[in-house]
Amino acid sequence: SQSNQFCDAGIGYGESACGTQISSSKLLIKGGTVVNAHHQHIGDVYIEDGIIVAVNPHIRVGDDVTVIDATGKYVMPGGIDPHTHLDGDGVSTVSVDDFFSGQAAALAGGTTMHIDFVMPVDGSLTAGFEAYEKKAKKSCMDYGFHMVITKWDETVSKEMELMVKEKGINSFKFFMAYKGIVMINNELLLEGLKKCKSLGALAMVHAENGDAVDEGQKKMIELGITGPEGHALSRPPVLEGEATARAIRLANFVNTPLYVVHVMSIDAMEEIAKARKSGQRVIGEPIVSGLALDESWLWHPDFETAAKYVMSPPIRKRGHDKALQAALSTGILQLVGTDHAAFNSTQKALGIDDFRKIPNGVNGIEERMHLVWDIMVESGQISVTDYVRLTSTECARIFNIYPRKGAILPGSDADIIILNPNSSFEITAKSHHSRLDTNVYEGRRGKGKIEVTIAGGRVVWENNELKVAPGAGRYIQMSPFSYLFDGLDKKDAIYLNSLQAPVKRTKPST
Ligand code: URP
Ligand code: ZN
Ligand code: ZN
Ligand code: ZN
Repeated sequence: SQSNQFCDAGIGYGESACGTQISSSKLLIKGGTVVNAHHQHIGDVYIEDGIIVAVNPHIRVGDDVTVIDATGKYVMPGGIDPHTHLDGDGVSTVSVDDFFSGQAAALAGGTTMHIDFVMPVDGSLTAGFEAYEKKAKKSCMDYGFHMVITKWDETVSKEMELMVKEKGINSFKFFMAYKGIVMINNELLLEGLKKCKSLGALAMVHAENGDAVDEGQKKMIELGITGPEGHALSRPPVLEGEATARAIRLANFVNTPLYVVHVMSIDAMEEIAKARKSGQRVIGEPIVSGLALDESWLWHPDFETAAKYVMSPPIRKRGHDKALQAALSTGILQLVGTDHAAFNSTQKALGIDDFRKIPNGVNGIEERMHLVWDIMVESGQISVTDYVRLTSTECARIFNIYPRKGAILPGSDADIIILNPNSSFEITAKSHHSRLDTNVYEGRRGKGKIEVTIAGGRVVWENNELKVAPGAGRYIQMSPFSYLFDGLDKKDAIYLNSLQAPVKRTKPST
């Protein structure tokens, strides 16, 4: 059974996890500062059967209600991570966090929903979807799916339609890198963008020039640079800038919205800034590693330490981190993800003699909410309402699940965190909840501590203890035609109209 599977795993998430429901279905969060993306105020939040029923200054309840005191603390929508790879295939190995351990880690860090990337199986979207449906059965929090497109033919085109109309997927990702594995060319990207537009689905790109990366890698190996630093040297920011610009221009040509995942460099960020300034609908997603780290770790003399920082696009030089933070605070970039793709040190060691064989990916699903708070709010770069927008609300709007998710409003799902701004956090591999044996934020401390996480109306994290059960998480279907598509048809019509104006051309005189 599900619960046996959990108990046998012996990860020790607390006894109440083994099969039993965790808490009363009626909850009152009293006296906290309730924060939404638009507004904050002191008040109570009353929850019944997983749904927020009331948000008011003083709510009176009976004895059958569990009361949580949030005085002096922030009561905010649970985090939504738009970018994760749980139970995912690396090039040669499968990531260590599955849908249960990755989500348990997420909940301990205040994230109550994530959107994971489904990989097609032998090019089949349907087979890919079914495989991920199985992987996700053990979920302990809500989740949604993006779908990756790796090839193009009539079948793929029809399957995209099926995914949108019947499976609750409203976004497709295209890899412009990883040549010979999942990389697509301009022709496929154009077909994909057109299809996305017609379905009202959001096109997402991993933007690096894969041909040039391949070239850069060969050059590093020829030079004898085989260590993790070769990873950064082989795929510099200019290649991320080029692919970002190209994807943006093709999306402009097709007139469809574009979402750039893991924006890691100033080069890519500035392309997004320019496009947005000209009125194009482009979303830029920085990830926590890009905001919090710099590439110097890749030069660390200890291979195990250096290799844990290998991800693509690479973590950049000092300065890119600060620029991405600033872009986030001024609205050039809109939301923060993690790209959580967890490979432990034995897996990373596959590339001990050749950086090209190091599985790409870093952790972050558990750390995102604390680090964004510390880096962005504690530094005074953004307000607490902005924090809610960047970690939750904007993601819900982009993927069309707002206000069910991303808000503390009557009728919304009861996915809520309580953050104590006067407490502090510390990150270590010893104390984290991921299955990883390492952590790229090892030893990092900061202000603010998520003391309580409520997912689907159940208290799943309290007193530094997880109370999670496999199977409690639900698949969240996401409808097409989010706000990003509003009015696109008008723009198309105006353009078509402008083509109809006849050209008065005089005949050549004979
Ligand atoms: O290095 C990374 N980012 N691994 C995960 C796959 C991807 O490119 O998003
Ligand atoms: Zn309000
Ligand atoms: Zn990627
Ligand atoms: Zn990714």
